[in-house]
Amino acid sequence: MSNEREIAIVLGTRPEIIKLAPIIRECEAQSIPYTVIHTGQHYSDSLTSVFFEELSLPKPEYELSVGSGTHGQQTGQMIIDIEAVLLEEEPDVVLVQGDTNSVLSGAIACCKLSIELGHVEAGLRSRDREMPEERNRVLADHASEYLFAPTAQSKRSLREEGIDDDRIHVTGNTVVDAVRQHKRVAMAETSVFDDYDLTRGEYCLLTAHRAETVDDEGRFASLLEGVGRVAERLDQDVLYPIHPRAANAVAEFGLEIPDRVRTVDPLDYIDFLALESGATLILTDSGGVQEEACILGVPCVTLRENTERPETLAVDANVLAGTDPQSIYEGAREMLDRSPNWENPFGDGDAAARIVDVIRQSETPARVAG
Ligand code: UD1
Ligand code: UDP
Repeated sequence: MSNEREIAIVLGTRPEIIKLAPIIRECEAQSIPYTVIHTGQHYSDSLTSVFFEELSLPKPEYELSVGSGTHGQQTGQMIIDIEAVLLEEEPDVVLVQGDTNSVLSGAIACCKLSIELGHVEAGLRSRDREMPEERNRVLADHASEYLFAPTAQSKRSLREEGIDDDRIHVTGNTVVDAVRQHKRVAMAETSVFDDYDLTRGEYCLLTAHRAETVDDEGRFASLLEGVGRVAERLDQDVLYPIHPRAANAVAEFGLEIPDRVRTVDPLDYIDFLALESGATLILTDSGGVQEEACILGVPCVTLRENTERPETLAVDANVLAGTDPQSIYEGAREMLDRSPNWENPFGDGDAAARIVDVIRQSETPARVAG
């Protein structure tokens, strides 16, 4: 019988699948027993199954199909369903990644069963408590035995909150592993430039899906106006793979999409990575996209007032423009004037191996579950 510690990996949304894929591969490579529990927070094919297929990940052992709802309904149902699986599987350690409701639910389920929790991407802070993601990540960090901080900055944030040094492991961000593992294939195999009639270096890429922006009619309209202004001045199209939350908001508010902004369905990772690499400029409110732009050396304008990725600002890879049209336009000009030769602050692409090593090397405490 194996003495390996058993890992359960809880995930539920697009960025969690992408950033946990390198850890799943590492478990496979090292023959570590693991179980994947998919909460079903994301369920549209374009936000979930497409990634399992194209990233060659095994199907999750558990699909909880929780779906959409209010924060309380969604989180509550996920806690109930995750708990049932953990009682059946009895893993030694559970891994969650990031800041979604799936992460908070996994964290609470572990706390209640006294199962060890590892938080991948620990210590990110926007200092904006209005964001549900900020509350989720703070709570997950304080519930965790293993805090996998991507950078020294995130470690500092955790220490400032009184978290013991011996629980914090600076590993780099697994997004670097993901970009390294897929970029070559993306550039070699994608047909996305032909599909959308785009030429590398002659278009911009937009993503905007955050609740605080797209659920607010005025803010979303202002963001679209600013992006439209950038497109006109650069004389370039902006491709906008639109998240369902944002698509619903456009329909509900009856918003007008500027002429040179082209909305398309969400893309798979290979196509999206290729489009990021070839873009003149990336405009986004996404956390993962800010990181990827920085790693790929593509200038980024963040359509928010704050970021939990200050490392991108520190290396001059990103500016915060908010949603005011003039600030977006000026942010774009500023970023295009900078030379994109910054250092990647998110690590060397071996984060997943470090995370798995930490778990393998730690002792299993007596379990108090029941
Ligand atoms: C969630 C995360 C956010 C993350 C994003 C990744 C929380 C609080 N938010 O936001 O941090 O950046 O995932 O993309 O956890 N919908 C679909 N199909 C789906 C899923 C959702 O159509 O597969 C629509 C539904 O109308 C739903 C809405 O999108 O009500 C919002 O979905 P939800 O999972 O609540 O949050 P996201 O905006 O996706
Ligand atoms: N992404 C993708 N297809 C798209 C848009 C984004 O594969 O059409 C990827 C992107 O490369 C990044 C991740 O999704 O790895 C970011 O997810 P999202 O913006 O939904 O969430 P956030 O990072 O803001 O939590």
